[in-house]
Amino acid sequence: MRKVELGIFMPIASNGFIFSKRAPHYIPTFELHRQIAVLAEETGLDYLFWMGKWMGYGGPTRHWEESLEPITLSSAIAASTSRLKLFATINPLLFHPTVAAKMVATIDDVSGGRFGINIVTGNTLDEYYQMGIVPEGYNEYRYQYAEEWTTAIKALWTQEKVTFKGRFFDLTDCVSAPKPQQKPYPAIVSAGTSDEGLRFGAKHSDYAFMGLRAEEIAKTRGFAAEYGRTIKIATNLFLLPRPTDAEAETELAALRTELDHEALENLIASTERDMRDAKRADYLRAPHIIGFGNGMPVAGSPETIARKLAKLIIENNVDALQFTFLDFIKDLGVFRRSIAPILKDLLARESVFVNLGEERATAA
Ligand SMILES: Cc1cc2nc3c(=O)[nH]c(=O)nc-3n(C[C@H](O)[C@H](O)[C@H](O)COP(=O)(O)O)c2cc1C
Repeated sequence: MRKVELGIFMPIASNGFIFSKRAPHYIPTFELHRQIAVLAEETGLDYLFWMGKWMGYGGPTRHWEESLEPITLSSAIAASTSRLKLFATINPLLFHPTVAAKMVATIDDVSGGRFGINIVTGNTLDEYYQMGIVPEGYNEYRYQYAEEWTTAIKALWTQEKVTFKGRFFDLTDCVSAPKPQQKPYPAIVSAGTSDEGLRFGAKHSDYAFMGLRAEEIAKTRGFAAEYGRTIKIATNLFLLPRPTDAEAETELAALRTELDHEALENLIASTERDMRDAKRADYLRAPHIIGFGNGMPVAGSPETIARKLAKLIIENNVDALQFTFLDFIKDLGVFRRSIAPILKDLLARESVFVNLGEERATAA
């Protein structure tokens, strides 16, 4: 039986992931994240994922103007949970590999071997220019920098003393102990979309997060095969459950109508200032877009959502789905009570296993 993992893209920055004046406006707190985590664990989900955000995009909703820091937050959530895997985003520009190696080993200890990191090179460099830490020419060698950093951190996690002479890092008999609980080291995930980003993920990561684009999925699996590896493909989905399909579609349309164009345009402009792939910001202009990080909206009654999710899992052969919600507590509650049982049943008929529910204790 094929196993598919389900997780949550946690709302670490204000207002979550929907750039709409109609969406709930809130500032993230530990208490909110703790409540989502407890509910996710009770639901039988597999993991939580936090992005890292260092600036917001203004507009009437002041989107993402307040955000918590994902590594420190996940450490607290580790102490509040017992089973979920926890993935927090880390940018190598911000932490020397020796510091990061010990931070990760610490949270792996706090969590009892449930922690992993999402290694990013910076979605929008404005976040790092404001700190004055972007080295000259960084955009050209972002993934080389991440490659060296990742090689160094893996060495620190697995070797007693590390001597590493690279272009960016210089370690001499460098120690890092204790080692992480997970062997050889904690899970690594990645979310790049450029060929370089996909290759980086294929070489180092256990999971690659991406949109539901068959070509990109096949390319990533192909890159992983070149490195003699397999990689799990994970994708984001925005779940919008309402009692009926009509109510859900009406809500989705209203969210779009009241889009915070100013905040979204600020994010698009910031993305374009990076002068990377010219098409990188295009998807943010697509008519169905209501924010960043949501992936495809899946709206409808609980039964419709369960059917859509089952179809999507079967047709795209993905290994993991991570959900965003408009109201994480309320809508995750609906997922648990009304969507999960139907989804589990539909998938079982196709020989796909999801942890949801009481059987999770015996899952592989
Ligand atoms: C689920 C998901 C989470 C992401 N989280 C972050 C993040 O926290 N910080 C960041 O700088 N970029 C983040 N990104 C962006 C990617 O790391 C990547 O920079 C972006 O997709 C552009 O690809 P490229 O780096 O290959 O050019 C995320 C992307 C996805 C799909």
